[in-house]
Amino acid sequence: MSKIILGLSGALTHDPSAALYIDGKLVAAAEEERFIRKKHAKNQPPYESAKFCMKYAGIKPNEVDVVAFPYAPIGLLTPGRWHYARRYWYAPDRALGAIFNGNRRYRRNIHMVKELMQRFGVKWGQIKFIPVEHHLAHASSAYHLSGFKEKTAILSIDGKGEYATTFFGYGENGNIHKIKEFYDPDSLGGLYGAMTEYLGFEMLDGEYKVMGMAPYGDPAKYDLSPLIHFDGKNIKVNTGLVNTIGLRRYKENGKGFYFSPKLIDWLGPRRTDDSADDPYIHYAAGMQKLFEEISLKLIDYYLGDILRETGKLCFAGGSALNVKLNQRIIALPYVDELFVQPAASDAGTAIGAASYAAIAMGIEVEKLRHVFLGPSYTSEECIEACNRHPGKPSWQVIKNAPQRGAEIVAEGNPLAWFQGRMEFGPRALGCRSILGCPNIAGIADLINEQIKYRERWRPFCPSILDKVAGDILQTDHPAPYMTFTFDVAQHWKSRIPEVVHEDGTSRAQVVTKETNPRYYDLIEHLEKLTGNAVVLNTSLNRRGEPVVCSPADALNMFFGSDLKSLIMEDILVTKKKA
Ligand SMILES: [Fe+2]
Repeated sequence: MSKIILGLSGALTHDPSAALYIDGKLVAAAEEERFIRKKHAKNQPPYESAKFCMKYAGIKPNEVDVVAFPYAPIGLLTPGRWHYARRYWYAPDRALGAIFNGNRRYRRNIHMVKELMQRFGVKWGQIKFIPVEHHLAHASSAYHLSGFKEKTAILSIDGKGEYATTFFGYGENGNIHKIKEFYDPDSLGGLYGAMTEYLGFEMLDGEYKVMGMAPYGDPAKYDLSPLIHFDGKNIKVNTGLVNTIGLRRYKENGKGFYFSPKLIDWLGPRRTDDSADDPYIHYAAGMQKLFEEISLKLIDYYLGDILRETGKLCFAGGSALNVKLNQRIIALPYVDELFVQPAASDAGTAIGAASYAAIAMGIEVEKLRHVFLGPSYTSEECIEACNRHPGKPSWQVIKNAPQRGAEIVAEGNPLAWFQGRMEFGPRALGCRSILGCPNIAGIADLINEQIKYRERWRPFCPSILDKVAGDILQTDHPAPYMTFTFDVAQHWKSRIPEVVHEDGTSRAQVVTKETNPRYYDLIEHLEKLTGNAVVLNTSLNRRGEPVVCSPADALNMFFGSDLKSLIMEDILVTKKKA
């Protein structure tokens, strides 16, 4: 009898998602935001995503054996609740709540899952419910999917799970062991998030924008060390300034922020426009540096011995999407290979809770082979969507979509490229992408101004064929998911200037034929036309919108932008001339 495990996320009210394992095989996974078309799908249950996973696998909801969820009850005798209460003494309602009612959110979560399963017609007693500690879910999503067989160091950093914010541990023979945890409010992710808010972006969304801004600033210009006390093995966030709750919060038009008015007194007003100037670029640079330095020292302190033994490290949690930190981790002399769960933020905990539950039940979990785990659509479905769309698109069936796509890109036009199964995780990896020619000057600006409508200083990234990746990135470290930046070789910088960041790095995806043959084919055709087996790749969405999921979403995005060409499966879509 096969075992079916449905993993659900959304424990912290953002990034709900679903993942389905059948006998240790990850069959499907998707984020709720893609279906309901609301970024991060805040306060929503993972209903559409769970529905998709079960439908894709061809199973009925009552065939699910186990529902795994990345949030667990935390005992009163464990340190997290007490630490929280002690450190948030100035907000007595929250502090006392942690002691006397510390699993309130857990109960809310159970209620949400119960309701969700009832909507599918499944009675609560009919399935087994396995709650998994949040950071264990993150840890499992990295370790159990890495395929690493040797003893492996595990790191998880996010804003906060139940109470833990940071997890150091190791995996051995399939089991995860804790070494050390930090608890709220002592959170590197929370600190970074609070500064993200101060710098004018949304927490849990704009952190990568701070990281993108950092290379434009000088980290030495302002000393941000008062934000956090660090003694080499413990962190203590300065809650007088950041990670602030209750009455200490800075408020603006009724909205509370995770920093205090004291931060404004110290650093000046918070950034509120699209500018990238003094002092904010320097604050971004300072924050990024502080985050990198402390993280690296903690890795050395808690995980150094294991890493010196085997060189393998797994990393998840929202902060694992910090590609600059990851570049520095890979550069550590004792790290041979770093695996970052591509859906490192909470969306990935649906996978992690399910993989953790599978292991606990004695089921082996397969290595992650790719993230093309979402819905796909046939050419016929794409044609139907075209015929229904109010924009009245012109469409034609084309014979060789990858070749035609490469020709459009080589001519200097951005191309919307919609193929196969949607990616799981924040990066478009060649199935829901906008592509551009990285050697044509101005392509990045064109996409920024006309299509993505996003900040002009944000970098674009390359997809590179495996055969040239070593020459461009000067490393053979695996990089299939755009989770790392690398220094671009000098002789390539002028060849692909549109995908090299200010500091000479690229957040690259190395493409292999086995995982995405059509995308590989397109880049190979582009190589014939331009000499470079590299394409600029950015996600198929506009600023503030989730990546597109269906052909109808792609058409809405297409007609809401200045894009001229869209290829969906074997269908080339253009706009009728007025
Ligand atoms: Fe998390």
